Amino acid sequence: MGPDHRRPEEVTMCRNPSKYALVFLSLALFGLIFLLGNIRTVEKWNCNRISTLDQLQRTFQTSFVHAPTFHNSSFCAHMGQKPSPEEKLEERYLLDSIAWPGPPTSSNPAPLRLTSDPVHSLFAILPNKGRKEWCVGDQLEVLVQMHDFQGRPKHYGGDFLLARLHTPELGAGVAGKVLDHRNGFYSALFPLLWEGSVQVEITMVHSSEAIAVLKRLREKRPDRVFFKSLFRVGYLVETTVCNMCLPPDDKPLCNFTDLYTGEPWFCYKPKMLSCDTRINHSKGGYLEHLITNKEALLFQSGVNIKVQIHASGPDRVTVLPPKKDKVEVKKGGSVKSDAVKVVPSGYYYGDSWRQLGGVKMHQFNNSSAVTQCLKDKMIYLYGDSTARQWFEYLVTFLPELKEFDLHSPKNVGPYMAVDNAHNILLNYRCHGPPIRFTGVTSSELRYVSNELDGLAGGPNTVVVLSIWSHFSTFPVEVYIRRLRHIRRALAQLLDRAPGTLVVIRSANLQVLDQQVSLFNSDWYSLQLNKVLRAMFKGMSVLVVDAWQMTSAHHLPHALHPPQAIIKNMVDLLLSYICP
Ligand SMILES: *[C@@H]1O[C@H](CO)[C@@H](O)[C@H](O)[C@H]1NC(C)=O
Ligand SMILES: *[C@@H]1O[C@H](CO)[C@@H](O)[C@H](O)[C@H]1NC(C)=O
Ligand SMILES: *[C@@H]1O[C@H](CO)[C@@H](O)[C@H](O)[C@H]1NC(C)=O
Ligand SMILES: *[C@@H]1O[C@H](CO)[C@@H](O)[C@H](O)[C@H]1NC(C)=O
Ligand SMILES: *[C@@H]1O[C@H](CO)[C@@H](O)[C@H](O)[C@H]1NC(C)=O
Repeated sequence: MGPDHRRPEEVTMCRNPSKYALVFLSLALFGLIFLLGNIRTVEKWNCNRISTLDQLQRTFQTSFVHAPTFHNSSFCAHMGQKPSPEEKLEERYLLDSIAWPGPPTSSNPAPLRLTSDPVHSLFAILPNKGRKEWCVGDQLEVLVQMHDFQGRPKHYGGDFLLARLHTPELGAGVAGKVLDHRNGFYSALFPLLWEGSVQVEITMVHSSEAIAVLKRLREKRPDRVFFKSLFRVGYLVETTVCNMCLPPDDKPLCNFTDLYTGEPWFCYKPKMLSCDTRINHSKGGYLEHLITNKEALLFQSGVNIKVQIHASGPDRVTVLPPKKDKVEVKKGGSVKSDAVKVVPSGYYYGDSWRQLGGVKMHQFNNSSAVTQCLKDKMIYLYGDSTARQWFEYLVTFLPELKEFDLHSPKNVGPYMAVDNAHNILLNYRCHGPPIRFTGVTSSELRYVSNELDGLAGGPNTVVVLSIWSHFSTFPVEVYIRRLRHIRRALAQLLDRAPGTLVVIRSANLQVLDQQVSLFNSDWYSLQLNKVLRAMFKGMSVLVVDAWQMTSAHHLPHALHPPQAIIKNMVDLLLSYICP
């Protein structure tokens, strides 16, 4: 259970009871009425499509080459090998499980004034089974009511909210679970894990109207990040555009589909050179003018991207020590808290991550402790730059772990580090395309599943995967297919070499502005994370929940989380390796 520290001073709950109590009460009452009325009504909005946009999208510029545009890219999700009936079924299930409610189609495109405004929106802490008293072990429930820019209540869901409960003085924080009641109300649920004054933080990441735009971009514009390859023979050099899918019947293509996995990849054929003269691969660029001016209003930093929602009354409560003889109170007191018991992956206390369930967290504060843990291990990190961060952390932290110079391009890899005295080998390799790195040599473009097929594995082998960020611009089917290949390879690896430790690092939150949102929004990551969790469920793999580790922490979100968070992530990895 939670730590046994007492906070020195307690914060009074209602500084101005008469003023706040009324607002609080009416909000709570409203919530109750709305919830009871609407909790069962699950409205299915149609995916919105904005046709005027397609005309605008035909004119765009790129920084470097004229990239192709898609008028119909639904074929993109279905490139590559045809999935088997079972795979199709799983895909359907996964897509259904991440279905996100959208605004009513009648309001499309919604004018800004009718969209969710975090400043006009409010939250209130609900009483605990009728009483304003909370103990460690209880659950804190918060009701959020969204309003539009005119201050009018919203009547549909689909806003993307984040919830955090924290005590800054204790370096404590935990991510909350947000439930969308699809009527403008949301519940945020928090487990109470430590004593003292705890503060609620609710953030609107995107409005439901903005999510609808992101959803459309994901399905219709997988071309919005494009890639390029250089082809060369002697002095003859040509560069062409590449992608997971390119418009068919446009120009001749080079088909770089992987023969083992069937993972599709294409480049336009160079005019003079043949396809087998490809030298390297790199990020091509990001398309512009993807959204209308009206839609751009839905993505304003400080206005409706990651803006906090205020409390109508107090935003904190005091948590008392756990009750000695806990009597289960019957259902009915609170709106919903009894129905959903929130169990987070872990929480911070004293700025250290405490994993809940399974492993006991150890802190590895000095290099000798880490070296002792990794002795005789071969660690293989595969993925994007968030996996590379762990490589860099370990190489910096362990003076005896010497990086071997493979003459790899900076930030691309592959990388290798060796501690001969302790027989430690650390490897990093980026995942196969799509990868927005600069200058990956063609021969180093390898798919993770193929690499895993080449591993002997065993009790001395640790495999770490972090694969998410470069998939956010593609339909989710693309990510599902990639994970399916990796899962197959992992299952075979665990079969032939039991004892191989597999750790998967999930996606994390990052800093968002308009530009980043369109290509890499946390909403895309959230959806990929759900798919990731579901696909490896039941397998003998361990998860580092980077999402919650960044959500619960007080430091600002960043694509590459700050060192303090990386230390906690690597400490968790090491705790998995050395329980
Ligand atoms: C888009 O392409 C797919 C696959 O080629 C096809 O089935 C679908 O009918 C097309 N949709 C439109 C609107 O042209
Ligand atoms: C690309 O190559 C793969 C594997 O050889 C093949 O299955 C696929 O049909 C090809 N795709 C195109 C568009 O030529
Ligand atoms: C590691 O360092 C933290 C912060 O300095 C400290 O609280 C903790 O007790 C240390 N843990 C160990 C095992 O030395
Ligand atoms: C390193 O940390 C371990 C436990 O985490 C501790 O037992 C050991 O004494 C520390 N070594 C040094 C040199 O500080
Ligand atoms: C690709 O390879 C060519 C030829 O070796 C090199 O000049 C170029 O810099 C490489 N591109 C990148 C982005 O590294």
